[in-house]
Amino acid sequence: MTMEFKEKDLDLQNIITDEVNKYLKRDLSTLPASRVASPELINKYEKMEVPEDGRDIYEILNELDSEILEYIHRGNHPRSFSFIPGPGSRLSWLGDILTTANNIHASNFKNANLPISIERNLINYFAGKLGWPIKPAGGVFVSGGSAANLTALVTARDEKIELKDLHKATVYISDQVHHSVTKAFHIAGFLKKNIRRVPVDEDFKMRVDELDKIITQDKKDGYTPVLVVATAGTTNTGAVDDLNKIADICESHDTWLHVDGAYGLSHLLSTKGRELFPGIERVDSVSWDAHKLLFQTYSCAMVIVKEKQHMLNSFSEEAEYLTDVQSDDDVIDPEMIGMELTRPARALKLWITLQVLGESQYRARIDYGQELAELTESVVSEMEHWHITSKASLSILSFKYVHPSLTAAQNNKVLSNAAQRMASSGYAVTYTTELNKEKVIRMCTINPETTKDDIIGTLNRLNEFVIDEVEIVRS
Ligand SMILES: Cc1ncc(COP(=O)(O)O)c(C=O)c1O
Repeated sequence: MTMEFKEKDLDLQNIITDEVNKYLKRDLSTLPASRVASPELINKYEKMEVPEDGRDIYEILNELDSEILEYIHRGNHPRSFSFIPGPGSRLSWLGDILTTANNIHASNFKNANLPISIERNLINYFAGKLGWPIKPAGGVFVSGGSAANLTALVTARDEKIELKDLHKATVYISDQVHHSVTKAFHIAGFLKKNIRRVPVDEDFKMRVDELDKIITQDKKDGYTPVLVVATAGTTNTGAVDDLNKIADICESHDTWLHVDGAYGLSHLLSTKGRELFPGIERVDSVSWDAHKLLFQTYSCAMVIVKEKQHMLNSFSEEAEYLTDVQSDDDVIDPEMIGMELTRPARALKLWITLQVLGESQYRARIDYGQELAELTESVVSEMEHWHITSKASLSILSFKYVHPSLTAAQNNKVLSNAAQRMASSGYAVTYTTELNKEKVIRMCTINPETTKDDIIGTLNRLNEFVIDEVEIVRS
């Protein structure tokens, strides 16, 4: 008896090519940057049942086209400026298609020789960009910055303290750290009461004098300082912590130094390169997202550790059903230095993009992001009642509106409402964040397809929404 497979009856060859063509031809700038579904639509899909007999594929494609894929925040839209946008290149998408079409099991070298050679090639390439010797460095591609931070924190924990003593372990972050780090502390078993939040200076960088004082006091109190997490490009302002001074402190206290460079480290490929991150060559591990400023589709990020052996110590396990595919000592399988066994060949799409664009195109695109941020800064500086709250740094800046006749709370409200109206208009996304307890607009201008007119158009509209909101507050 043979099964009847429904796929055979479907014209998938044409459907897939038509869908791909449709996406290749569309002009994102003419679509809304963000749309939110109605409660009725949300209810429809939350309650939809799986049918006993399948439905017509064209009916489903129509639902995808007109509803499911319509109401999203388009992080790759040229006027999507909030969070960290995701300007994934079409080349990365091509890599996705080929990777998923082959359903590559990139766990062991023997299952995917060349995709894994390519992964190692890229880890070595990026280790080189950090100024690290390629040996004994190591790393692995993971789903994102959160997974990268967790992988590094577990590696650091195992290197610096025995699990039975974890209650004595203290860890150090600035109050501008990304929340994935505190989440990772919890998962890795560090106690909340032992997380030390170091204040930042006026440039939103960790106060190194405070860090040293707090660590010294902790040691006197019988704690074991295990790990400092510095940030190279904070999400809020693009600030880079003083890695050299923090490395001095970590060396003197025998503490692991991890750098969350999920967002910022891609600027190593800009014209300024290492000049932007003095001291990066001295740190123990980094997180580095490719699905941010290396123009990859989700999910593509790296965790790179200066000594690969530390990753092996934390993540390698024996399994009898894998002995035939496990590598010898020299060739380390990704599954032995990270959390996942079954995993896609995430490096492949980045390799395709790098090989096709080359360093020169990467340099030009990343430089352009910073140029756009500087342009935004200079335009905002000329706008009445607007003030820069953090200057263009690694293509991120923030600014606030202060109308002299309104209270601080009213100005905050005006700004939040204006940001919401901007998103609802579909023209652009420019959400607020908080700095020094005040609402500010934050823009991250990394999309190479953003034009200067997009920036001017966005700022003009923002100003109009704000003026309108001031009238509403006053009336
Ligand atoms: C500095 C920083 N670290 C970590 C993350 C988390 O990365 P992901 O969303 O890829 O998990 C982000 C995300 O924006 C980030 O900006």
